Amino acid sequence: MMSEPLILGIETSCDETGVGIVRGTTLLADAVASSVEQHARFGGVVPEVASRAHLEAMVPTIDRACNEAGIKLDDVDAIAVTAGPGLAGALLVGVAAAKTLALALNKPIYGVNHLAAHVCVDQLEHGPLSEPSIALLVSGGHSSLLLVPDVTQDVIQLGQTIDDAAGEAFDKIARVLGLPFPGGPYIDAAAKEGNPEAISFPRGLTTPKDLAKHRFDVSFSGLKTAVARWVEQEQRTGNSVMVNDVAASFQEAVVDVLTRKAIDACLSNDVGTLVIGGGVAANSRLRVVAQQRCTEHGINLRIPSPGLCTDNGAMVAALGSELVKRGRSASQLTFAMDSSMNVTTVVA
Ligand code: KG4
Ligand code: ZN
Repeated sequence: MMSEPLILGIETSCDETGVGIVRGTTLLADAVASSVEQHARFGGVVPEVASRAHLEAMVPTIDRACNEAGIKLDDVDAIAVTAGPGLAGALLVGVAAAKTLALALNKPIYGVNHLAAHVCVDQLEHGPLSEPSIALLVSGGHSSLLLVPDVTQDVIQLGQTIDDAAGEAFDKIARVLGLPFPGGPYIDAAAKEGNPEAISFPRGLTTPKDLAKHRFDVSFSGLKTAVARWVEQEQRTGNSVMVNDVAASFQEAVVDVLTRKAIDACLSNDVGTLVIGGGVAANSRLRVVAQQRCTEHGINLRIPSPGLCTDNGAMVAALGSELVKRGRSASQLTFAMDSSMNVTTVVA
């Protein structure tokens, strides 16, 4: 039997320089260098700082991945790279590196959609994706609900955020509560010590009127304002802010809406599998509530382990591998990164 193709994936859409190597659906290496610490004092990712960090990290991270996998670059059968969506300058670095490798090694290159890669990575841990699946992608940059009949060529957007991404809401509320950046993990930890029912925060886009127009969309700006007002009010009246209760109640509101909408998407499309990905999929409460609600409705829930939920190169390699396996066409070497790449475009 011929061995399965060896794929190297490069991810640079935000602040993680990721290089992953897979053979078929077997993960061989997942090297990630993050510039998150350089952004922390700004309370958000600074695009120019991220681009510079990718430049510095690219070659060492490729070397690290090859060592980890025990391969030489020349062994690789194809290169995959995130073509979009993401920060333009950051994407450019990854795409330029991938094109250079493809040209020097004379291998095909696949410029792929970051969102489809977030879905496909689950195959490395939980076997072939069911077709169709529903995917809920929640991170600092995106909140999307997708119908995925075929992750290599047919991805349909059902809904998205109409304002902030879910992770962005976590990061902003953490700031309000005086917690460090990125806020998600700190809110998650604080919430474990708090009461999720202490404060009843609003659930955006869930009234019948909103649902008529935005059934699968989400919105976090109203929630964010409500939390900020609540904190201000407490401070004004001289009460000490119960950070753990606010964190738990805020998190509960986000998790409630995300899981409700994801389950609704499964049921109304008659789809029996839900995949959750993106940095916020690392949230411990989201994982618990999603599992409870999926079990209740007979839906099979798949969430990659937290390290594969956040941005990484393995997810890009995983999608590249599936594209090769299914005989999809590679990109032209002249393809361009696309910072606002539409989710329906899987390969540039
Ligand atoms: O996927 P990711 O690493 O990068 C983007 O593409 O944005 O996601 C980062 C986001 C941040 O907003 C971070 O606060 C959030 O994921 N995050 C979490 C948790 N871990 C990371 N949000 C909630 N709970 C967590 N445990
Ligand atoms: Zn992402």
